[in-house]
This record gives sequence, structure tokens and C-alpha cells, in this order.
Amino acid sequence: MIIAVANQKGGVGKTTTAQALAAGLAGKEYKVLGIDLDPQGNFSSACGVENYNVLTVYEVMKRGATICEATQHAKGGYDVVPANIMLAGAEQELSQTGKEHRLKEAVAPVAGDYDFIVIDTPPSLGVLTVNAFTCASDILIPTTAGIFATAGISQLNETVTSVQKYCNPGVKILGILFTRFNPRANISREIRDLAEQLGEYISAPIYETYIRSAVAVEEAQANRTDIFDYAGKSTVAEDYRSFIEEFLKGVNG
Ligand SMILES: Nc1ncnc2c1ncn2[C@@H]1O[C@H](COP(=O)(O)OP(=O)(O)OP(=O)(O)O)[C@@H](O)[C@H]1O
Ligand SMILES: [Mg+2]
Repeated sequence: MIIAVANQKGGVGKTTTAQALAAGLAGKEYKVLGIDLDPQGNFSSACGVENYNVLTVYEVMKRGATICEATQHAKGGYDVVPANIMLAGAEQELSQTGKEHRLKEAVAPVAGDYDFIVIDTPPSLGVLTVNAFTCASDILIPTTAGIFATAGISQLNETVTSVQKYCNPGVKILGILFTRFNPRANISREIRDLAEQLGEYISAPIYETYIRSAVAVEEAQANRTDIFDYAGKSTVAEDYRSFIEEFLKGVNG
């Protein structure tokens, strides 16, 4: 299963969710590969892998390096293909026909080696995110509360529809995950309102689990490790554990 974690809105918890998912699934003995497809390289640094002076996803997509050559092992027990700012150039450089398929073609030889491949995407709907959607079987959408966060979802939905039409008919939206919730807010009410707002833009399942806000997330990232390793007993770790249970239930039926 190949999951693209996407939302063109910045700072909604894509990278945090991708890392928690990769680390959480690895903790359950699944074989997991995380791919950083964001020139910001946040996923790479959060996972504690090198992303300079090493082969990255850019060399894989542009220069014919293999995924294996670019793969590193993260402390959390999963593999990572890193990214850095060089990938920003790919947006312009990947202009030939077939550009949407670069990542899919690169991943194909190793796809069978992993139970889950998790792709972290940048906050845009450009060629990198389209590559992720073309490669993926499923799309996971983290979103924060607020009307601006929800409005962008319809645009995201249009991109998914266009990828389904032209590049990858099988890809589907797995679900929407609410993140960075203020634990003091009236959560159940807020969730209901959000779900209602979202319903106007997209028909996709919404996870029952929501991820609360906590400083431990930023601290874990600063320490270049995952939330379960850094603060396994924190509310966020608890929330991401519940999310992974719900995710697996959905996957395994
Ligand atoms: N549950 C949370 N509680 C507190 N802070 C969080 C939480 N989730 C994410 N953050 C923080 O919010 C910021 C944005 O999170 P993250 O990098 O995961 O979002 P993103 O969608 O990947 O952003 P970008 O669009 O820039 O790639 C980070 O500083 C992160 O530490
Ligand atoms: Mg990110």
C-alpha cells in the first residue's frame, strides 16, 4: 500500500503525520519506507537521516539513481528516501512527457519489499504532489480546523480527480485526519462543524481520531526523532497510536 500524505495548505501536519505513521507502523513490525517529496526536507530531518551530500529523491527522479541507492535507515525502524532544496528545481525541470510517472517508475522495483510506503508531499499541488498521487494507491489528507483549511480541500479534490482521469485511475482518498486540535476547545462540537463544512467540498471518510496539539511534536522534530520515541506517553503519541489503529482497521477491513 502506497500512501501519499497531502494538503496544499502549509503547516497542517502532513510531515508530522507521515512520520508518525511510518514510525508507528514500523513499531508494529511492518516494513515501511518513507519518501520525502518536499524540497523543505522536513520529513528527512525529523526522521534523523542525512539529506545533504547523499543521494536524494531528486537524483532518483532526475538522474536515474535507484531508490535503493538513496535509501537510508531511520532510528525508528523504517527506511527513508530523503529530499533537500534541490528538489525545488524538479518542478520546472520535470517538463517532458511522462513527468507525472517518474516517482511511480522509480518506486516500482522496491514496492514489493514494503508493506507500506508513506510519501510526504509539499504544500502545493504541483508536479511533485501529482507524482505522489500517480505513485500512490491511497491519499491521506491531514487538515487543521478553520474555514481556510477546509476551502482548499475542494481544489485538492479536483487534483485527485484529474490524476484519476489521466494518470492513476485506482488512486483514492483514504480519509481526512483532523490535526493540531486545541485540547481546550469544545472538540466534539468543532469536529461536527468541520465535518459539515468539509462535506460541501469533498465526499471522503473522516477519521474518528483527531490529533491534539502539544509542544512534544515540535520538540520531537527538533530532536530528530519520532513522537513515540521522544514522548511515548504524551497526548499526541496517544492520539497517533489511536489513529494508526483506526487506519489499520480501515486497511485490513
Ligand atoms: N499535533 C501537533 N501539535 C503541536 N504542533 C504540531 C502538531 N502537528 C504539527 N505541529 C507543528 O506544526 C508545524 C507544522 O507541522 P508539519 O510540518 O507537520 O506540517 P506540514 O503540513 O508538513 O507543513 P508544510 O506544509 O510546511 O510541509 C510544525 O512546527 C510542527 O511541529
Ligand atoms: Mg511538511
